[in-house]
Amino acid sequence: MNAKELKQVKEQLKEGHFPQWMVTDPDIYKLEQDKIFAKTWLFIGHESEVKEPGDYVTRMMAEDPVLMMKNKQGEINVFLNSCSHRGTRLCTEDYGNKKAHTCPYHGWTYSLDGDLIGVVAGNKVFGEKMDKGDWGLRPIPRVESYQGMIFGNLDPEAEPLEDYLGNMKWYFDIMLGRSDGGMEVWGVPHRWVAKANWKMTSENFAADPYHVQTTHRSAVELELTPKDPMYASYGHQVVLDNGHGINVITSETGRSRLKYQGMPEDMWPMFERNLTENQQEVFSRVTNFVGGVFPNLSFISTQSGSEGNGHNHLNFRVWRPLGPDKIEILVWFMIDKALPYEFKKKSYRGFLNTFGAAGTLEQDDTENWARIVEASQGKMARDRSLNYNNVINYLMGFDNLEPDKEFPGPGTAYPSCYTDHIARSMHRYWLSLITADMEEEEKV
Ligand code: FES
Ligand SMILES: [Fe+2]
Repeated sequence: MNAKELKQVKEQLKEGHFPQWMVTDPDIYKLEQDKIFAKTWLFIGHESEVKEPGDYVTRMMAEDPVLMMKNKQGEINVFLNSCSHRGTRLCTEDYGNKKAHTCPYHGWTYSLDGDLIGVVAGNKVFGEKMDKGDWGLRPIPRVESYQGMIFGNLDPEAEPLEDYLGNMKWYFDIMLGRSDGGMEVWGVPHRWVAKANWKMTSENFAADPYHVQTTHRSAVELELTPKDPMYASYGHQVVLDNGHGINVITSETGRSRLKYQGMPEDMWPMFERNLTENQQEVFSRVTNFVGGVFPNLSFISTQSGSEGNGHNHLNFRVWRPLGPDKIEILVWFMIDKALPYEFKKKSYRGFLNTFGAAGTLEQDDTENWARIVEASQGKMARDRSLNYNNVINYLMGFDNLEPDKEFPGPGTAYPSCYTDHIARSMHRYWLSLITADMEEEEKV
């Protein structure tokens, strides 16, 4: 992107427009890999996925395979999942428990701390000089966690995770910190590949309740959701730090029909002990939380069946870019450890019906994301000149919605979820990252 194009893009974003060529442009994709995915905090997994010493999961941080495992002292470490000998992928399973990891290529063995502890034929072939201490697994430069959520960052200089999450922590505390014992992941994350660009999927969750009544029309027809076209607008869209955002969806009356998303009443005193008064107020009124941590972690915490005819559930998801027009989706189902088993089971069923690889709502969304990609790759959509107005529209709430100063949570809260405030904030943050190292004179 040259200085002239940057100037043009900045002007377009200022006006609530987004240039369509940037959605799937291969050069922009490369920039995103270098400037965003190598420098921001990426979600790897939840601490409950590695409960016992030796438990491990393998994941990808954008393009890097990583191995997250618990050592004998109970510490969780994350390494590049690549053998230090010839670089092959060390662990090939998705998850499991091992006392040590042995490479399938030449048999080098690593401890649960990532130390090299076994070399086939050892000194006989490598001599006395090679120090095994130099050839352990390479740790991911930064690994930090918040409320059991483990993130990694490839940039050793990155700001601490808690600073990066900023005022999103307040909402994480409600969703993840309300119960004694925290949350646990049930099962393994669902995983599948879809045709989509990661920006559009992140934005769909963090910033776009406007699509709900059209895309998910089938939910209305099944009477899971009301007909009211404004249904998903009630509540607040809250713009948070660093391109993060959350929609706190209530109902027309500003209150969910069910307090605390319909969680069992005997848990309420615990919530009230663990949450501040303002957090209780938000949590007691909410029907759905839906939002995202920039760049590609999203979540939805919902009553299954918006009218409270099911059990609430929470899922987190990562949209891992596999190219400008392809993503891998990972979805974790999470639930309060403190809940009774029967409730958890029903909640999991509600999740399976709606979200995850076979969920009806998930399928509705996936089709639209594929079509955005298809319609953004032709010559006309990719034309960067201003010959025609080659932009897509982010004008909702642009100059007709003021923040609600009375909202009890942090962030800038707008009194409607049908607005593009979070999307515009994501775009601004995204542009600031991908242009961060441009020469000063190129900055406009
Ligand atoms: S590549 Fe792992 S032992 Fe050779
Ligand atoms: Fe959707």
